[in-house]
Amino acid sequence: MPESARYPDYISVGPGTPTGNFLRQFWQPVYESGRLKSGRAVPLRILGEDFTLYRGQSGKAFVVDPRCAHRGALLSIGRIDGDNLACLYHGWTYDGAGQCLAQPAEQRSFASSVKIKSYPVQEYVGFVFAYFGSGDTPPFPRILAAEGEGLLESRESRRPYPFFSQLENSVDEVHFNFTHRQSTFSDVGLNDEIPEIDCKETDYGLIRYGKRTEATRISHILMPNCLYSKVHDELLGWTEHLSWRVPIDDETHSSFVAKKSTLTGDDVKKYQKRKEDARALLSGLESADIVADRILRGELHIDDMPHRPDQVMIQDLVVLRSQGPRPRRENDQLGASDKQIRLLRQMYRRELQAQAEARPMKQWRVPPDLTTSTGLSD
Ligand code: FES
Ligand SMILES: [Fe+2]
Repeated sequence: MPESARYPDYISVGPGTPTGNFLRQFWQPVYESGRLKSGRAVPLRILGEDFTLYRGQSGKAFVVDPRCAHRGALLSIGRIDGDNLACLYHGWTYDGAGQCLAQPAEQRSFASSVKIKSYPVQEYVGFVFAYFGSGDTPPFPRILAAEGEGLLESRESRRPYPFFSQLENSVDEVHFNFTHRQSTFSDVGLNDEIPEIDCKETDYGLIRYGKRTEATRISHILMPNCLYSKVHDELLGWTEHLSWRVPIDDETHSSFVAKKSTLTGDDVKKYQKRKEDARALLSGLESADIVADRILRGELHIDDMPHRPDQVMIQDLVVLRSQGPRPRRENDQLGASDKQIRLLRQMYRRELQAQAEARPMKQWRVPPDLTTSTGLSD
């Protein structure tokens, strides 16, 4: 097999690229629902492409092309009128399906012949999702565990390295014992021993087992780019995480994390107070990016970094940025503990190959009652 087929380009995600086309065949989170105000538009960059995201006055969200068909002004600086979007330059007005409805300065309007692209949108677990693929829109995959009672927190965080590096890190349980040696992972028994890794392909993606003497941790990858796992949070204990790794462009991605805990009532208030305290503490510290830069420049060792609430994130940031902006996967020397990395790459490779040859690709089905487990006491 030629090297290019054994090691496809997992990094380029723009329009027309194999990985970009593949990711476009699935619903992707693009924005935090709570940040998109009614009657406002914002610019959106996803998969190396620009779009306009807006929320109409009815509360419904829409994704359309970035620019006005008239003379190319950015629509994200426009005005919302009902559920329509009016360009700030000369007032051409579009509906959520991209159809031009009005050209106020034209005596003979030709609006009916003008249309910009629009994309299907859904809101779920606190995020706006959009579908950028061709053909029929696939059904939206739901996870019932993320919908039940309890506290749901949804947050986007942007990270300066490729989505595929983060996706591989999502299945890599061995790194806990090294990268996260100094973290609360030790308090809950995740760092006591190097787990024996097992994994297999499923109807929805990949199941991963991290076997330890006392317990086995079970997590999943929902193809193509979502980790579903139980994560230990310093303030919350064990929580269900749905974490989508969505490329902004080739070298930057956003992690869209929907975190579900079982907290209710007064416990939520207590947690929110602790969270405010953690936020106040963080606001007085150097930013995570600056600390990571200092570690990468050799001015600080990670083990000398004083404890801080975003410690685990900085530890990942440092190792993943250290792999370089476009890591060459063909240089990697994988061992038995990389079984899950190998499987994930094989699944991508097989699907990209089928896509290139216009053969049928696997139809992934996420069971709504899928569950995760730590095997450790909750
Ligand atoms: S550029 Fe949008 S109306 Fe003229
Ligand atoms: Fe990590």
